[in-house]
Amino acid sequence: MEQLQRLQQAVPPLMGWYRIHKRILPWRGTNDAYRVWISEIMLQQTRVEAVKEYYIRFLDRFPNARALAEADQDEVLKYWEGLGYYSRARNLHAASKIIAQKGFPATWDGVRDLPGIGDYTAGAICSIAYDMPCPAVDGNVLRILTRLFADGSNIDEANTKTKFSELLRKVYPREAGDFCQALMELGATVCVPNGAPMCGNCPWESLCKAHSEGEEEDFPVRAPKRARKVQTLTVFVLEHEGKYAIRKRSEKGLLAGMWQFPVYEDMPEPSAYGAVCKEKRAKHIFTHVEWHMTGYLIQTQEFLSDFVWVTAEELRGEYALPSAFKAFMPWVK
Ligand code: ADE
Repeated sequence: MEQLQRLQQAVPPLMGWYRIHKRILPWRGTNDAYRVWISEIMLQQTRVEAVKEYYIRFLDRFPNARALAEADQDEVLKYWEGLGYYSRARNLHAASKIIAQKGFPATWDGVRDLPGIGDYTAGAICSIAYDMPCPAVDGNVLRILTRLFADGSNIDEANTKTKFSELLRKVYPREAGDFCQALMELGATVCVPNGAPMCGNCPWESLCKAHSEGEEEDFPVRAPKRARKVQTLTVFVLEHEGKYAIRKRSEKGLLAGMWQFPVYEDMPEPSAYGAVCKEKRAKHIFTHVEWHMTGYLIQTQEFLSDFVWVTAEELRGEYALPSAFKAFMPWVK
């Protein structure tokens, strides 16, 4: 059977399944483009469970584009603290200024032009907010489709995404938003990314070519991953009279604009700042880099002028500190 024909047959059972089995999530049941946009940005590279609480808190504080546009970047980053991939928050803030002026774009091209929005997110927003037949192909969708077709194309190649987008465009039903989310939902809850798929619960059980051949887990085919770079870092938690030393990271690159304790690469000698009270090792894994950190708690003799000195309460309440440093927060009292 051709892929298009198989996909046409797959749409009605998927839609029926979604109506019954969709999860109740805080961003479902709205087609307000601003809300859909916030949810889709938060859901990039981030699990649904992790996003729920952030989404509710964020929308409570920034209920529309104007509220977001008028906020300080530092406050926006604080609301994003712990969610990771912080360039999302900076792009969101930049885009909100455009939206506050011109309104939310009503076309795919207009949405795609906003900072921080790629083909996938533009497709998801236009499908969900506007019921436009704009495919949104992410890892979940690639997994379910390569299995449905037993298609061994390398999903890390751009033309694989293009091929599946074009197929999906041809079969989009009128309820585009539900279709878009049904595809994602099947990938997230049945045809799962890690471990065996739950084929007994799948609306495509009798249509899925990989399943009929017992080869579900041979798909998708991927390019081998490149090894992450390891950075060895020394982290200083410097305390003086109940205040702690922090500084802002550069506005460019990893964790841009976030706050951190003094951190040095290739500087293993801790006594530069004084006697070490505590020492601890911690690791944090980013997409392309691993941090292997050794942290030192040190009481300094003065407020060293290289840093901003803040109380524990200020640090927790006002400054956006990446999760990488969580391991050292028990020292901040
Ligand atoms: N992942 C990306 N977008 C999503 C959505 N709208 N619902 C559930 N998971 C998603």
